[in-house]
Amino acid sequence: MHMYDIIEKKKNGAVLSTDEINFVIQGYTDGTIPDYQMSALLMAICLQNMTVEETFALTKAMIESGETIDLSGIEGVKVDKHSTGGVGDTTSLVLGPLVASLGVPFAKMSGRGLGHTGGTLDKLESIPGLCIDMSKEQFIDNTNAIKIAICGQTGEVTPADKKIYALRDATATVNHKGLIASSIMSKKIAVGADALVLDVKVGSGAFMKTLEAATELSQLMVVLGEQFKRKTVAVITDMSEPLGRAVGNSVEVIEAIDTLQNKGPKDLKELVVVLAEKLLLLAGAYDNPEDARQGIEGALSDGSALSKFKEMVELQGGDGSYLDDTSKFELSPAFELKSDAAGYVQKIDALKVGEVAKNLGAGRETKESILDLGAGIYLHKKIGDRVEIGDVLATLYTKKDDVDTAKADLLQAYTIGTEKQDGSALILKVVDHVE
Ligand code: URA
Ligand code: CA
Repeated sequence: MHMYDIIEKKKNGAVLSTDEINFVIQGYTDGTIPDYQMSALLMAICLQNMTVEETFALTKAMIESGETIDLSGIEGVKVDKHSTGGVGDTTSLVLGPLVASLGVPFAKMSGRGLGHTGGTLDKLESIPGLCIDMSKEQFIDNTNAIKIAICGQTGEVTPADKKIYALRDATATVNHKGLIASSIMSKKIAVGADALVLDVKVGSGAFMKTLEAATELSQLMVVLGEQFKRKTVAVITDMSEPLGRAVGNSVEVIEAIDTLQNKGPKDLKELVVVLAEKLLLLAGAYDNPEDARQGIEGALSDGSALSKFKEMVELQGGDGSYLDDTSKFELSPAFELKSDAAGYVQKIDALKVGEVAKNLGAGRETKESILDLGAGIYLHKKIGDRVEIGDVLATLYTKKDDVDTAKADLLQAYTIGTEKQDGSALILKVVDHVE
């Protein structure tokens, strides 16, 4: 088999066989296929597309390129969640303890953030002492003991995806439905949960710009999940402004703690409730959505969701007292951004807010960047809010010198106009089965 012939075949729009796809993935992972040939194939895929069968074969080949994690040692239906990349998205830190407090094991191996999207692991590390490095055995033991563990990836899971994703990033081939679906699903299936809820973001700041494109991606991921015998539901959510009010690390953990006590922002709670309902039903913890909702509301209002989070923090070596008193979190020096216009907030460019947060020190420029866990942004005004000249739009937390540039950039993220606009609906669509 020759890579040249495979590139030629895809360039002409033909369907690749499973053997050919395995040859490509093995060869690229072990270095016998060079970047320039892989780049050409990726571009041909973007232009000529893949069938569902090819996408399945690609996903399988990427899973088999590395280690897989066997979670069968955990009792019950293990659930996991994945988001396609939001700004200020603290959902996992609320969702995990919430479903765990209702008896469903939440076993999540997470990644670090790169660029404007923060990683769950970085956020968790703003709690002093908390350790996210765990052996597989520890991960399984903890989940059995308290129904929840969140840790960094152990071992080499899907090395093919890691290498291909970096290449896609440099060759304008990230944005293809089949490549995104296989990339996400290979990682999730390799780490073993039985049921998965996917939060698929749509909007200017997301990979998928339209509801139609997001629906197609969701359907493909649900089909792949089913082919690998994992129950999968995709929830398509709007990302036309950041989720909640906090964007950063410590600030987002504080927001998660508030939300776990039913004192968080409305949009974050709305999303968490929908995702939790799907997971609880997939896991068979409840028979119908109404009962699931009732369970969720109970756990958020009686303190059991927050207690579960504290249990997890302490079992992983963290200082649980930070959850009782969030003023203990050390935030970087604060600067206020004031409005130079009066009217209503009509838009907040989430991508831009994410970029500013990164520049303040909350995100990574490169994999080696050191984060300032106290850096970030708190949005006092969101879509639909009335603003007068001089009102504080947002607080910026940073140790960086050039606050003026950050303020100017953040001001640009806001669109303020005379008409009051209601924010668009957050939950746009649920894709749970594809005929
Ligand atoms: N997230 C991933 O992990 N992979 C993609 O291709 C896109 C988003
Ligand atoms: Ca947030």
